Amino acid sequence: MILWFSGTGNCLSVAQQLADKTGDRLMSFYDAVNADLTQENVIGMVYPTYYFNPPKAVLTLAKQLTLPKDAYVYIVIPCGAQTGNAVWAVRQILKKKGINVAYCHKVRVPDCSAIGFGRNPNSQVWKFERFRGRVEKIAADINARRRASHYGNWGLAGWLCALPAVEKRTLPALQPAVNDGKCTGCGTCARVCPQENISMLHAAKDGQQTAVIGDSCVQCLACVHFCPHQAVEIARKATLRQHQYHNPAVRLKDMLRR
Ligand SMILES: Cc1cc2nc3c(=O)[nH]c(=O)nc-3n(C[C@H](O)[C@H](O)[C@H](O)COP(=O)(O)O)c2cc1C
Repeated sequence: MILWFSGTGNCLSVAQQLADKTGDRLMSFYDAVNADLTQENVIGMVYPTYYFNPPKAVLTLAKQLTLPKDAYVYIVIPCGAQTGNAVWAVRQILKKKGINVAYCHKVRVPDCSAIGFGRNPNSQVWKFERFRGRVEKIAADINARRRASHYGNWGLAGWLCALPAVEKRTLPALQPAVNDGKCTGCGTCARVCPQENISMLHAAKDGQQTAVIGDSCVQCLACVHFCPHQAVEIARKATLRQHQYHNPAVRLKDMLRR
């Protein structure tokens, strides 16, 4: 079983390619928490690097998973450039459960981080060409049950970004927010949010539906990138169509886990 977490579809696309080449099935991390995985021989995990760490949702969900102790477990980690502690942190959680991660590999993909918001991630699709063959190699390694770690490091950056004082200063400024003037109440953001953290409420003044982002945002930015009206913004910077990106092989409906 391949467990995935994804904001723009980059991780989902890598997970889908691995599933095709290994003959395995896909399940979102959220659904995996309630699934019986104890009979699985192979467990793959595909999740992104966020601020040199795993997404907070992945950390929380990984702690809740019940996994077989003797399975071949691997992590494939898409990132813009450097993974920092993104593999290490999940590895530690699994180690406490008595589970050894046999294989890890990073894959470079277009970087959609909130820090660089306003750059055009579509201009980085050259990475798909440059790293063509990477996923095939990883799938071949997995099929051969190889044991190896290829994910680089930058652990110090991971530690720094995870310091509560740093998070408190930086994360709120990078939080997505809905521009009520642009929101049409279509609900796409609410459907695509993996955390189910967006509600559609009726505005008091005209009764029209508008999206409201709650407190459990993990900054995957799916709402920013999939909004058909560019109504979800970061740091009050207007979202333009060219700022929006999603993996070309992934459609909105693929991203909806339920
Ligand atoms: C909030 C955020 C933080 C990120 N931080 C990093 C990082 O520290 N290092 C890196 O190489 N890429 C980073 N990225 C780039 C992502 O790894 C990249 O955009 C990837 O496509 C995300 O996969 P997903 O869209 O399937 O969730 C970050 C992206 C986001 C949204």
